[in-house]
Parts: sequence; C-alpha cells; structure tokens
Amino acid sequence: MSTAVPERVGVIGGGRMGAGIAQSFATAGAEVVVVEQDPAAAEKVRERVADSLRRAAARGLLPEPPDRILARLSFAHEISALTLMGGVELVVEAVPESAALKAGVLATAEAAVGADTVLATNTSSLSVTELAAVLKRPERFLGMHFFNPVPASALVELVVTAGTDRASVERALAWTAGLGKKDVVVKDSPGFASSRLGVALGLEAIRMTEEGVAEPEAIDDAMRLGYKHPMGPLRLTDLVGLDVRLAIAEHLHATLGERFAPPELLREKVARGELGRSTGQGFYTWE
Ligand code: NAI
Repeated sequence: MSTAVPERVGVIGGGRMGAGIAQSFATAGAEVVVVEQDPAAAEKVRERVADSLRRAAARGLLPEPPDRILARLSFAHEISALTLMGGVELVVEAVPESAALKAGVLATAEAAVGADTVLATNTSSLSVTELAAVLKRPERFLGMHFFNPVPASALVELVVTAGTDRASVERALAWTAGLGKKDVVVKDSPGFASSRLGVALGLEAIRMTEEGVAEPEAIDDAMRLGYKHPMGPLRLTDLVGLDVRLAIAEHLHATLGERFAPPELLREKVARGELGRSTGQGFYTWE
C-alpha cells in the first residue's frame, strides 16, 4: 500500500467535520485552505483547530509543534480561493447534509480546480452517485467519509461509484494511509457500510428497549462486554444524537425497506426534544 500526503488540500465547510479534516491533513504535512462562508464560523474553526492541536501536543501526539502545523492552514470565504492556491490535489466537501447545497458546492469547486484534482464528499448518507451527476469529471469523484472526531478516529470509508476511476481510488487510498488511518472501500449504496450496520444495531437496541426486553444499560453491556464493542448502541445513539439517527433511519427505510423502519420510541423521544447528550436526555440522563 503506498502512502502519500497531498501537497495542497482544499476543505469546503469549516464546521465540526471540516475542522477535523483540515487539522488531520495539516498535521500530516499538507498545506490546507479551509473555505467557510460564514464569518463567525470561520473565526471558530481557527480556534477549534488550535485548541485541538494544543490538546494533542499535550498528549505527545503531534509530530511537530502546533504552531508549525497551524501555519500550514489558511482560511477563505469563497470557493474561488482554491484557484489561487494553485495545484490543489484534493478537495473535500464538508458542508451540511443537503443534496442541493452539496451539488452546488461541488460543481463550483470543480470549476475552480485543475482537471487532475480529486473531489471528495464527506456525506454521511446522500447518494454519491447522484452527487456525481452534476460534475463534468465524475471519474475524479468519490466519497471520503470521515468519522467524528476526525483527528482521533482510525477510519476513512471510501465510497466509490461506478464512474470513479481506479487512479482516483488509488490516490485516495494512499492519502488515507498518509493520514495514518485505515480505509474501507465500499460501493456507493445507502448508508455505506458503517451507517448501515451501525444504524441496524442501534434500531434493534431501541426496539428492545421499547419492548422492555432489558434496561438500556443492560442492552449496552451485552454488546460492550459480550461482544467487545467500545460502547453500547444506545449510548452511541445518545452521543450521535437521536435526531441524526432518526434522519438516517428514515433515509435507509426509504431506500432499503422495512427493516430500517424507525421505532416509535425513537420518534417520540425526538418529538419530546430528548436528543441525547446535547439536550441532557436521551436513553440516558447526561450531566
Ligand atoms: P456543520 O454544520 O458543523 O458544518 C458545516 C459548515 O459548512 C458550516 O460551518 C457552514 O457555515 C459551512 N457552509 C455551508 N455552506 C457553505 C458553502 N457554500 N461554502 C463554504 N462553507 C459552507 O456540519 P458537520 O457536522 O461538520 O457535517 C458536515 C458534513 O459531514 C455533513 O455532510 C455531515 O453529514 C457529514 N458528517 C458528519 C459527521 C458528524 O458526526 N457530525 C460524521 C460524518 C460525516
């Protein structure tokens, strides 16, 4: 497996995921420009990355001082800034989960970069194939699905469409290795590998709670202690957000059928605003 770090990377969207993706590439040695259209969010992304780097440095996890890594990061408000950067090898789109928004951003990015640039989407649930339809060079496009928090997570799920060419997949594989992360390559399909399996387990755990089979702690312990999962499916649902889980379940229900039908308990909790850790109440009560 070859390992490489792209010299220059563009990241569009400086939210939770974009910040982590930018930080990871800059830490690996790439020059990164983060395009964030909202000035308040742009201010925050610099702080967020700086904070995260300081914490990583304190734990001895960085190859060089945080300031040197931060110096490789720059920030812009417009996608056209990618043209000024010159020779960007990879652009990762990490704007909110809306097909229309992502399609517009990807088409604009494609027009701003060279023909050899690989474009990637960090979508967690949209069809990569449908997003590819707006592009002139769909062969240079794939999903690079990062996990939160990106700097600490070990995996990138590479989502390949029927139109993605082998060279782009090889480059994405080498860059993933360059980040020190492991890849899984999946064919574009609803929920990819990670969400499809993760949500299936989460929904069944919710149905078991609904049926009174066991308390949430017991269901989670069955997986944590019995199957060596680092965290049980209900606790994980609380961390991800019940609203986020419901949206993905609805999408998988529509595309893959009845087995992903969201349980009534999940709908009720979301309707009551019990979204998990973010609101203090989900399947658990959080401080
Ligand atoms: P977020 O809402 O924290 O950040 C998105 C950012 O994009 C915002 O700061 C927004 O101002 C910016 N933005 C919107 N339109 C833009 C444009 N035209 N140009 C430049 N910036 C623009 O969202 P988050 O959580 O970072 O998610 C981003 C993507 O990553 C979504 O597709 C999501 O499904 C996916 N994802 C999220 C995960 C998570 O745990 N949050 C995990 C894996 C994937």
